[in-house]
Amino acid sequence: MSEAFDAFMELYSGLPREGPGSVNSLLNVLEIADPPPLGRVLDAACGSGADSETLLRALPGLEIVGIDKQEAFISAAKARGLKADFRVGDMLWPEGGFDLIWCAGAVYFFGLETVLEAWRGHLFPHGKVAFSEVVWRGQPSAEARDFWAEAYPAMDTESGLHTRIEAAGFKVISAEPLGQAGWNGYYDGLRKNITRLKGKSAVMDRVIAETQAEIAIYEVHFGEYDYVVYLAEPA
Ligand SMILES: C[S@@+](CC[C@H](N)C(=O)[O-])C[C@H]1O[C@@H](n2cnc3c(N)ncnc32)[C@H](O)[C@@H]1O
Repeated sequence: MSEAFDAFMELYSGLPREGPGSVNSLLNVLEIADPPPLGRVLDAACGSGADSETLLRALPGLEIVGIDKQEAFISAAKARGLKADFRVGDMLWPEGGFDLIWCAGAVYFFGLETVLEAWRGHLFPHGKVAFSEVVWRGQPSAEARDFWAEAYPAMDTESGLHTRIEAAGFKVISAEPLGQAGWNGYYDGLRKNITRLKGKSAVMDRVIAETQAEIAIYEVHFGEYDYVVYLAEPA
């Protein structure tokens, strides 16, 4: 792997979670899902397993499969000591069927249509998908638009994404903005790692500068965009 990738992994290691998200947003999904997921749940792109832990605390009988492509995150997930099956793999190709496929902050790697198509065949009858995706929620400022045009050019509007979920043959059951708390918890951990790792190497400082640019945009422009947590089922 490259030096830049190693620096990236070091900066993003030891965090409570690897992307914006919150316990409450996931508990909300579990509360709305009818019937609630009582069997197998996939935590797709589980990172270090924060949401698998929330799922198991809420519903201890669940059979959780957590998949992530980074071995370091899967090791961290296993270190939580949960009764869950954490594996290195591709979130598009899980084995078997699920009552719920949950995916926080990773749909953008492939795009909405690709993940829904891949997951549809892995849903049991009454099975649902729930995922968070970052969307424009207000009139974007030039600064926010320019930053995200580079970081995530395919970022859609909230209504645009809703329409695409339905066009992909799914019914939206709920769509709740994540809100600031879900970003602050994630960025607070990153800020600590930045303080600890700044100056370690030129490569690390470049990776840190990119992350600081993202946080700086968030500090001024949050509200123009947010993650929205969707719960949906095949129509
Ligand atoms: C923003 S992080 C979110 C992690 C976790 N869901 C959370 O919220 O803490 C995105 C995760 O997607 C994983 N990832 C990216 N592409 C993947 C793929 N094709 N299959 C599985 N995991 C993938 C990354 O390794 C990373 O852990």
